[in-house]
Amino acid sequence: MYKDSDMKDRWIVVTGASRGVGREVVRCLVADHGCPVLAVSRASAPLEELKAELKDAPGILEPLVCDISTDAGVGRVVEQVAMRRLAGLLNNAGVLVKRDMGAWASEDAALAFHVNATVPLLLSQALADRLAGDPPGHVVNIGSMGGFQGSAKFPGLAAYSASKAALACLTECLAEEWKDKQVRVNCLAIGAVDTDMLREAFPGYRAPVDAAAMGAYVARFLLEGHGLYNGKVLPVSVSTP
Ligand SMILES: NC(=O)c1ccc[n+]([C@@H]2O[C@H](COP(=O)([O-])OP(=O)(O)OC[C@H]3O[C@@H](n4cnc5c(N)ncnc54)[C@H](OP(=O)(O)O)[C@@H]3O)[C@@H](O)[C@H]2O)c1
Repeated sequence: MYKDSDMKDRWIVVTGASRGVGREVVRCLVADHGCPVLAVSRASAPLEELKAELKDAPGILEPLVCDISTDAGVGRVVEQVAMRRLAGLLNNAGVLVKRDMGAWASEDAALAFHVNATVPLLLSQALADRLAGDPPGHVVNIGSMGGFQGSAKFPGLAAYSASKAALACLTECLAEEWKDKQVRVNCLAIGAVDTDMLREAFPGYRAPVDAAAMGAYVARFLLEGHGLYNGKVLPVSVSTP
């Protein structure tokens, strides 16, 4: 259960909550840690299903349906948060764009960089004042081993992996920007997790970690990791890919 009495009324925003890792993080925060969570994705039905499933849980799930790849979508999140104080922001929503070398168009690369790196910058910036405080709020960016310096790289994933490398660097920059503001920022560079995105990236490959296990770890890290880390990019992987 969410023990820190100073934090229990502070909300957590999770993007990409409709499926995969994000959905499991939300489930864990609400059911196991008793947190109030604003769960964001474009698809309404999965959020409503999860809300119904968690209706007797100790925490709260408030769904927010919007497309955070637009400025209006980022604005919707900020508007919904309004004057609520935040304990955390999980920048988890991501997009996989896979192209053979030679087939990249500027809009393909722009989409990967926009959703995977620019949107976390814009959302974090917009919510920083709501996260600031004592104890500090925690921004966790979900990166990838593909964007971790020195890691194995794979064909077709150039823009995706580079966008996750940008997110890793952004993490270090934001931690520096906000070191006096009481907001901590870390990045988990996760390895293969059995989700829709992984199956699209590596058809036929069976990931050794499921979304529930990774979701439970990310939820705990979001609640506790900022006590020990700031501006860090941490690999969380048992496999290649
Ligand atoms: N699975 C892996 O092996 C793996 C490895 C390394 C890193 N990652 C990273 O982990 C994160 C979660 O990945 P996953 O595997 O769980 O992916 P997933 O199953 O494809 O889920 C992606 C989530 O992002 C949301 N999303 C995408 N674009 C959005 C937008 N414009 N506005 C709002 N929500 C949006 C999707 O919701 P809607 O479609 O409903 O909007 C969905 O909930 C991503 O950042 C991914 O890059 C995953």
